Amino acid sequence: MQPGLPTETRPLRGDERQREVAQRRVEELRDVINAHDYRYYVLDSPEVTDAEYDALMRELRQLEAEFPELILPESPTQRVGGRPTELFAPVQHRLPMRSLDNAFSDEELAAWAARVERRLGARTDCVCELKIDGLAVSLTYEDGALVRAATRGDGLVGEDITANVRTMRSVPMRLRGKGLPRVLEVRGEIYLPVKAFERLNAELTGRGERPFANPRNGAAGSIRQKDPAVTASRPLRLWCYALGFAEGVTVSRHSEALDFLKHLGLPVNPELKRVRTLKEAQDFCAYWQAHRHDVDYEIDGAVVKVDALEQQRELGETSRAPRWAIAFKFPPEERTTLVKSISVNTGRTGKVTPFAVLEPVRVSGATVTYATLHNEEEVRRRDVREGDTVIVRRAGEVIPEVVGPVLSKRPPDARPWRFPKKCPACGTKLVREEGEADWRCPNRVGCPSQAIEWLFHFASRGAMDIEHLGYVTGMQLLEQGLVKDPADIFFLTAEQLGQLPNTGEKSVGNLLSAIESARHRPLWRLLVGLNIRHVGPFAARLLTQRFPSMDALRQLSLDELQSVQGIGPRIAQSLHTWLQQPENTRLLDKLRRGGVQLQDEAPATEPSATGPLSGKAVVITGELETLSREEATQAAEAAGARVTSSVSKSTAFVVVGARPGTKYDKAQALGIETVDEQEFLRRLGRSRPLH
Ligand code: IVH
Repeated sequence: MQPGLPTETRPLRGDERQREVAQRRVEELRDVINAHDYRYYVLDSPEVTDAEYDALMRELRQLEAEFPELILPESPTQRVGGRPTELFAPVQHRLPMRSLDNAFSDEELAAWAARVERRLGARTDCVCELKIDGLAVSLTYEDGALVRAATRGDGLVGEDITANVRTMRSVPMRLRGKGLPRVLEVRGEIYLPVKAFERLNAELTGRGERPFANPRNGAAGSIRQKDPAVTASRPLRLWCYALGFAEGVTVSRHSEALDFLKHLGLPVNPELKRVRTLKEAQDFCAYWQAHRHDVDYEIDGAVVKVDALEQQRELGETSRAPRWAIAFKFPPEERTTLVKSISVNTGRTGKVTPFAVLEPVRVSGATVTYATLHNEEEVRRRDVREGDTVIVRRAGEVIPEVVGPVLSKRPPDARPWRFPKKCPACGTKLVREEGEADWRCPNRVGCPSQAIEWLFHFASRGAMDIEHLGYVTGMQLLEQGLVKDPADIFFLTAEQLGQLPNTGEKSVGNLLSAIESARHRPLWRLLVGLNIRHVGPFAARLLTQRFPSMDALRQLSLDELQSVQGIGPRIAQSLHTWLQQPENTRLLDKLRRGGVQLQDEAPATEPSATGPLSGKAVVITGELETLSREEATQAAEAAGARVTSSVSKSTAFVVVGARPGTKYDKAQALGIETVDEQEFLRRLGRSRPLH
């Protein structure tokens, strides 16, 4: 420091000069990077290659590392950073986030338009948009800076996802332009582009992790990450479709609001159209129904909105949805493809399930290569043969299934398919018990297919939750003879794991610490992992709440087991038999020797009276994978839901399993939300955590 000289005229020392040069370059780089993001995500006309963009980011990162005092929270390098303490905390929306009513045909769309014009006593112009199948988000900007991102939740209260949304390059951390509103809330849909979804699934499968059923689940799963760095690695995108709470913004049309959002640097989907007549709106819907795969993201319909905001206000809204907008929903997609072969797979309980190996085909946003054929009777009933051209669809847009063959395309030499007599994995003769639909492989101990499926199930999120132990590692452990049953996992050494292909020191360490955590899981998780028929997570929790130790459970008579509320004779019998079998006593002893806790330290808490589904009417259809119907019903009720047997307008959502019944069609017709089992478990898990 040279005292006496005013700052401006003081000659700069070498490091100060360097710092000043760095500061200028840092500012320039930030502007350039933000401008490239804007060109890429909003204008859809990038000017640089990915490599050039990466080089700019690298340079910025290096400079910030050298001069940490130059780092600002809104720097593009700071998208992952800060401590996400608020993640998933409840956020009250300033204005409710409503849903949309649905139209399933041209007539229903016309009826909506007629209602609108009757109420208004005037004709209307509308805006037609694509209905993006992703995850609704509300973004709040204060003085131009992104301060909050929240999920829709129940429409009134959502969850804070700011830390994760900040990692998305398509979401500007700062709005463009001057004179920005003090508070601006924007609504839009976060989605995963189809190609990114396919890449992500390939990656997950490669790591032995469970892939996502569709891009929507992929987007939701990526946003729900506890670690923003994981979200950052997923190429999530955003389309904004509405202005929410906006202080001092004066626009008179929805179309103007969208232009305004675009002007602020927010991504607005370009495929929108202002229309003056019903016919034009219908044409827009028909065009996009036929061209839904021309865009690289999933759309499940089109949305028609009254353009003039004054008319919107006049029409108002119901508690569920605005009267000034309607979603035209596309029918579930059906595709035809070739059955290359029919095979069977032996699952973890020995159940043998037939499935069709298909010529890969895109259905509802995912490439389908396998489709379940459920059981022998189903194959016979649908008469699906190898070589057939079949119609494929995704039940509940999730589980791929074969609707039936196209008989006109059947090759003359196609023969009816015969269920194999032996297990494809171990050659054991299959058995089918009286009154059962399924064939089973009785070789519980020696069948390699049951072994891997059991190991995978044991380590899965719904059971012992052993991170880093997926399909691939499981297979290697079994193939190398290091593990014969899941109890052997707890005897693995670093040396043994180090011998597996592609495992470095770090992954061995990760796996060992995941195994260590699994030694202390609540008892219900172990019970689920043990693969006892009919004992799913719900039954396991009921049992361990009453009897929080394995020793206590083993001493119970059949009657005592049945006396546990919610435990029916089928579950009690199955558990009782399992606990009496000597090989299972040996398994439990081995687990104990491996350091696994066979009792709960403190009894698990009772389910809360005001659960996450409190007051909601829920319908269940089809067969679920991990829960029996009885368990699913009890679990939903314990979470506060009413489980009803038929779908109506007041149904909150329908849980769709394999082979859903007419309730699924009804849900589609009424536009009621359908969810798969994974999503159902997630919704249950909020007040009764599965962890
Ligand atoms: S407008 C008050 N426009 O669809 C009206 N929604 O099924 C708010 N969605 O919750 C919705 N694309 O998450 C609107 N272009 C679009 C949309 C869209 C997708 C989602 C949104 C909404 C859901 C209703």
